[in-house]
Amino acid sequence: RKPAGAPDTALARKVGKVGVVGAGLMATQLAVLFLRRLRVPVVISDVDQARVERGVAGIHGEIDRLAGKRRIGPDEANRLHALVSGTTDLADYADCDFVIEAVFEELEVKRQVFGALERHVGPEAVLATNTSSLSVAAMAEGLEHPERVVGFHFFNPVAVLPLVEVVRAPATDDASVATALATAKALKKNAVLVADAYGFVVNRVLLRFMGEVMGAVDEGTPVEVADAALKPLGLPMSTFTLLQLVGPAVALHVAETLHDGLGERFVVSPNLRALVEARRPGLYDWRPDGTPYVSDEVSAL
Ligand code: 3HC
Repeated sequence: RKPAGAPDTALARKVGKVGVVGAGLMATQLAVLFLRRLRVPVVISDVDQARVERGVAGIHGEIDRLAGKRRIGPDEANRLHALVSGTTDLADYADCDFVIEAVFEELEVKRQVFGALERHVGPEAVLATNTSSLSVAAMAEGLEHPERVVGFHFFNPVAVLPLVEVVRAPATDDASVATALATAKALKKNAVLVADAYGFVVNRVLLRFMGEVMGAVDEGTPVEVADAALKPLGLPMSTFTLLQLVGPAVALHVAETLHDGLGERFVVSPNLRALVEARRPGLYDWRPDGTPYVSDEVSAL
């Protein structure tokens, strides 16, 4: 768990093909970022073909949106379209040098993904995780090459927020950390090298903050009043809008991990739990009196 200084940049390995495991909200945003900045082939995957196709279509749609806004030229858009592919078979990751997983925030699921990936990728391929709070060391346990597992934690919206937390677990080797840092630089992100501690740095602070705001609402303060009270802090958005952006299920998972790992000071909101248990992701909100409900309106985000 000890933090370490950045290793020699010369140790960084070349990244000629990227794998993103998952085809959901974070995975597709990551794929677009890798495509735009590295201009290398990017393969995404998910558990079934329908999800893969939705993910690939979302990536194509974002490339077209960027082209429509003249952020990228038509030739560049065509090149990026051709660089993305989707699969349900991790064997298609065999020639990836850098694979990042952005699957469900569950340790066992992520472990299985890395275990399966190891059967296909070369021994020097970096296996990165976009986990929000799970232990990177635990994720690497039992692998043949745990030294190439590194945390690579982005923030939503990925295209806009400049930070990436590069997480070094005790077993992570210098070459993998150097490759992650060089990749972050190529992605034009500000990388911070942090230790493998619960919630790393940002979520440790963010979840404590969000937990307290949700706690005030759980205890009876209307959402609008809590938002108005916090406005002078100059936050970029309401805590409840941010909760929708992050995803209530992810926020709940992170809150539970921090609560289990760091104790009672991390509040797990009963309203948040109730909303997630209603299992309608993306459609959650609070009534002004603080009681949760499932909205029929699709979130604006
Ligand atoms: N997804 C993708 N892109 C988005 C977006 C979204 N949800 N929201 C805004 N953007 C893009 C817009 O498309 C626009 O880009 P463009 O110019 O290329 O079209 C750009 O952001 C600016 O949009 P706006 O003018 O609407 O921007 P605002 O000034 O209102 O800022 C914001 C929007 C960047 C989302 C800002 O409100 C913000 O920073 N909010 C806080 C977000 C935050 O804290 N995220 C961290 C969550 S924690 C996390 O992810 C970690 C996880 O482990 C839990």
